[in-house]
Amino acid sequence: MEEKVKIRIDGKDFEMPIIIGTEGERAIDISRLRKETGLITLDPGFVNTGSCLSSITFMDGEKGILRYRGIPVEQLAEKSTFVETAFLLINGRLPTRTELTRFSVLLNDHSLVHEDMRHFFDNFPRGAHPMGILSSMVNALRAFYPEIPERSEEEEIDITVTRLLSKVRTMAAMSYRISRGHKVVYPRQEYTYAANFLNMMFDTPVRPYQVDENFVRALNVFWILHADHEQNCSTAAVRLVGSARVNLYAAISAGICALWGPLHGGANQSVIEMLNSILESGGNVKPFLAKASDRNDPFRLMGFGHRVYKTFDPRGKIMKKLCHDILNKLNQKDPLLDIALELEEAALKDPYCIDHNLYPNVDFYAGIVLRAIGIPLNMFTVLFAIGRLPGWISQWKESMEDPNWKLHRPRQIYMGEKAIDYIPINERK
Ligand code: SDX
Repeated sequence: MEEKVKIRIDGKDFEMPIIIGTEGERAIDISRLRKETGLITLDPGFVNTGSCLSSITFMDGEKGILRYRGIPVEQLAEKSTFVETAFLLINGRLPTRTELTRFSVLLNDHSLVHEDMRHFFDNFPRGAHPMGILSSMVNALRAFYPEIPERSEEEEIDITVTRLLSKVRTMAAMSYRISRGHKVVYPRQEYTYAANFLNMMFDTPVRPYQVDENFVRALNVFWILHADHEQNCSTAAVRLVGSARVNLYAAISAGICALWGPLHGGANQSVIEMLNSILESGGNVKPFLAKASDRNDPFRLMGFGHRVYKTFDPRGKIMKKLCHDILNKLNQKDPLLDIALELEEAALKDPYCIDHNLYPNVDFYAGIVLRAIGIPLNMFTVLFAIGRLPGWISQWKESMEDPNWKLHRPRQIYMGEKAIDYIPINERK
């Protein structure tokens, strides 16, 4: 028996169906609201609004649960690799051994970037932010890899997906090398996905890069933790731009731009900048907690809070353990980790943070892991983008395959002038 909700408007009753998800989440289906009542809903920031039905990722913000295609992120972080997790998200199931080998070989085969794209990279100002370069270069991929009419739509999508997963990693490393005036390092057949990225970033003729398996593992876990997160800002951007039926490169480029924001993927870089400020100001975290709770101060505690999680972000807990593991393996100390641990401890006791459910999110410890691996600060959000790519792709594919697909076009409530006449310029005051 379908559950319904009844609303009364101007004395007339209207019934709307209730949609119930696999995990018991409930939503009022208002798809016929305007047609039947003439009214729309208003929900700034879509805090209370679902945009789609999805089978990819499940999050429970109250319990701190995150699962990709039903598998808890904790198990994937411990047992899987980023390439296997990408296959899971995009194809809806874990690959067989043969499928995984084939997928890895395909990614390697498509890991080179068209040589003419080098001229694009060479002509960005040296100080250009890698996220701006990456979004431009991803959009440019369509120009260098145009659609082949003879291919079926499915073949076209498969090859585009493979190119993106493989070339985005290569282009990220290229943007870093060129920004430092270094020769581009090419991917190597004998390296895995993450090892290739590290080698393309850090290998030099005078000091050949020694791939450290601890870094490779840490990078796989980092990317697994970032791989998808249901309808976050950048994924919503990919779905919205994709709904206009643009090519996948353009939709992904839009996602990269949204992720760049300091309130979203840019937070991992902002966390390190904040921790450095605390360190440089003597290491006392209390003044920063006071600033965060001062309504007249725009300062926010970077790496804390989340639209969905109102408890610990499960990824933050794994990332925190990864910090300790990798620094212990390297026998390294990072003063910023000490500051982060002190700030987390103080925040968990701070009345404002408690009242506002401010817990460390995925970005709070992420930057410390990347520092330990040797990733430069301005590349942190690029690493997030590489991780989120399979999530964006799987969400785009799901929306393209949705039988109820619609062009995304929100409504509004107009609050401006009523109708007025044009005033000739010589009559204006
Ligand atoms: C990511 O959506 C996703 O899934 C994103 C992500 C993913 O994987 O895709 O998880 C990745 O983007 C993680 C979030 C990274 N951003 C940051 O760490 C930046 C700092 N955090 C915030 O700016 C904030 O917490 C947001 C943007 C993440 C979420 O904010 P909301 O849900 O929009 O809540 P809000 O801005 O309306 O704030 C509610 C209240 C406000 O106070 P009041 O006006 O109600 O008194 O909480 C306060 C806010 O001022 N608040 C904070 C705060 N976060 C919220 N106050 C101080 N510091 C903070 N970090």
